[in-house]
Amino acid sequence: MSNTQPAAVASERTTLKARRVSFAWDRTPLHWVPGDPFTTHTINVLHLLLPAGERWFIHVYRQVLPYIHDEELRQDVIGFIGQEAMHSQAHDDVLPHLKEQGLDPTPYTAQVDWLFEKLLGDRTLPPGRAREWWLLERVATIAAIEHYTAFLGDWILNADELDRRGADPTMLDLLRWHGAEEVEHRSVAFDVFMHVDGGYRRRVRTWATAFSALLFLWQRGARFFMENDPALLDGKASFGQFYRSGRRGTLPSTPSMLRSIPRYLSRSYHPSQEGSTAQAVDYLTRSPAAVAAEARTPKAL
Ligand SMILES: [Fe+2]
Ligand SMILES: [Fe+2]
Repeated sequence: MSNTQPAAVASERTTLKARRVSFAWDRTPLHWVPGDPFTTHTINVLHLLLPAGERWFIHVYRQVLPYIHDEELRQDVIGFIGQEAMHSQAHDDVLPHLKEQGLDPTPYTAQVDWLFEKLLGDRTLPPGRAREWWLLERVATIAAIEHYTAFLGDWILNADELDRRGADPTMLDLLRWHGAEEVEHRSVAFDVFMHVDGGYRRRVRTWATAFSALLFLWQRGARFFMENDPALLDGKASFGQFYRSGRRGTLPSTPSMLRSIPRYLSRSYHPSQEGSTAQAVDYLTRSPAAVAAEARTPKAL
């Protein structure tokens, strides 16, 4: 079933390892981008979607491992699973802090959990073609989502405007540590998809579903936070705010998001053509959380 594999940029490849980071949230303010609740909450949506979403990636990848007959790719998948497990945990750990500040995320996360565990779960399918079809659909969906996690990872590593505006350093480090690992492992999901299937129509179909679902969930999450923020009298989220934040550089710009669509749908696309592994690895050597995690890791004799 597999298609021709597009060319990967060999120099972008790196060995993946999970870094056991932890963050202290007690000094992070509610509006961690000072004076900008809209940017704060638009980025906060990551804490709502990623814990369940990344656990779901791991659940699906454990099922796909027996179908991977390339040892290098198998090792990449194992590294990917380790990194995504830490990401999921790190974002989950922010939620009690939001709750303490008067923003209870439970009504929203309950819906996200239902989406990933039930709607996108294993379903009661008999072994055979239907079960395999559903596994391949989910593998292709993960490849599409990882196009956007890599896009966002590359964006946050370069989002200097957030530093200029005095964004909370702990939150920036969480986002950049995560973003850097997304750039590091950006090829894995696409390589897995190409290895087990690679069908172009499936790539387009699952991209359309994933992209629409992400837009829907994101605008809903931003509205949820803005409307429930105890410090705002009449909090609202709109596309106009998003567009203007993109122009200022505090969120990804709308044109850059639109340009990323044809790139993913190009038949010659490979994730290694986007972002920079060198930049990601460089950040990970400076990230306070990653450096502390490295210092805690026992050294092999
Ligand atoms: Fe991740
Ligand atoms: Fe990822």
